[in-house]
Amino acid sequence: MKKILETRNLNKVYGKKENIVKAVQDTNISIDKGEFVAIVGKSGSGKSTLLYLLGGLENPTSGEVLIEGENIFDLKEDDLAVFRRRKIGFIFQSFNLVSTLNVWENIILPVGLDNKNIDEEFVKDIVNTIGLEDKVRNLPNTLSGGQQQRVAIARALASKPDIIFADEPTGNLDSKTSDEVMAFLKLSKEKYGQTLVIVTHDEDIAQIADRTILIEDGKVVKLDETN
Ligand SMILES: Nc1ncnc2c1ncn2[C@@H]1O[C@H](COP(=O)(O)OP(=O)(O)OP(=O)(O)O)[C@@H](O)[C@H]1O
Ligand SMILES: [Mg+2]
Repeated sequence: MKKILETRNLNKVYGKKENIVKAVQDTNISIDKGEFVAIVGKSGSGKSTLLYLLGGLENPTSGEVLIEGENIFDLKEDDLAVFRRRKIGFIFQSFNLVSTLNVWENIILPVGLDNKNIDEEFVKDIVNTIGLEDKVRNLPNTLSGGQQQRVAIARALASKPDIIFADEPTGNLDSKTSDEVMAFLKLSKEKYGQTLVIVTHDEDIAQIADRTILIEDGKVVKLDETN
């Protein structure tokens, strides 16, 4: 399998002196194209920090994140932003929807920012699959938490990214909706050959991943655990 993502001695330190937190420590991981990896570990172990570094949303204190062999932190800020929009889909723990835009506008926002043509049929297909076809004109604050998370997932998929990073994507969903969302993410991954990296507390999600990476106190303690 072809490697798509790799970290080299990745470190992220917050605070100074007595308040120092080593959120990510000397992390070396490698993820293949098309792989589905679950990152697991206790609250505060550094899972979100690691995911944000992998997606170039946070700068490391030291070390590298290589995507297709290129250290993303060597890119200029503007180039990194474009790279993220084209290559990466992010699903956050909180939904981060724009409150003044309706559901449809939220979903196509990143694609529009990139002046890419919007594949309307594709976006409609996503909207139908996540069951929001009746809500496309709604503003986010008129939706339930689970519906808002589904919009955030649709937004992440709309640009057909190569890598999808998701931080507890089903954390706010009931188990039925959670299963549907996961099934959809898996389907999207298989259809488009996408790589999927999910931070999760959910044993069921960790089970369906190809591999889990266990983090403790910012360190990878178990790698390559194949399910
Ligand atoms: N912006 C920040 N400033 C200072 N410390 C931070 C910051 N962000 C995270 N941390 C600290 O870094 C450590 C790792 O946090 P992180 O959010 O990555 O954990 P997590 O594994 O995602 O936890 P959870 O499962 O609760 O979401 C924690 O000790 C946290 O307090
Ligand atoms: Mg977190």
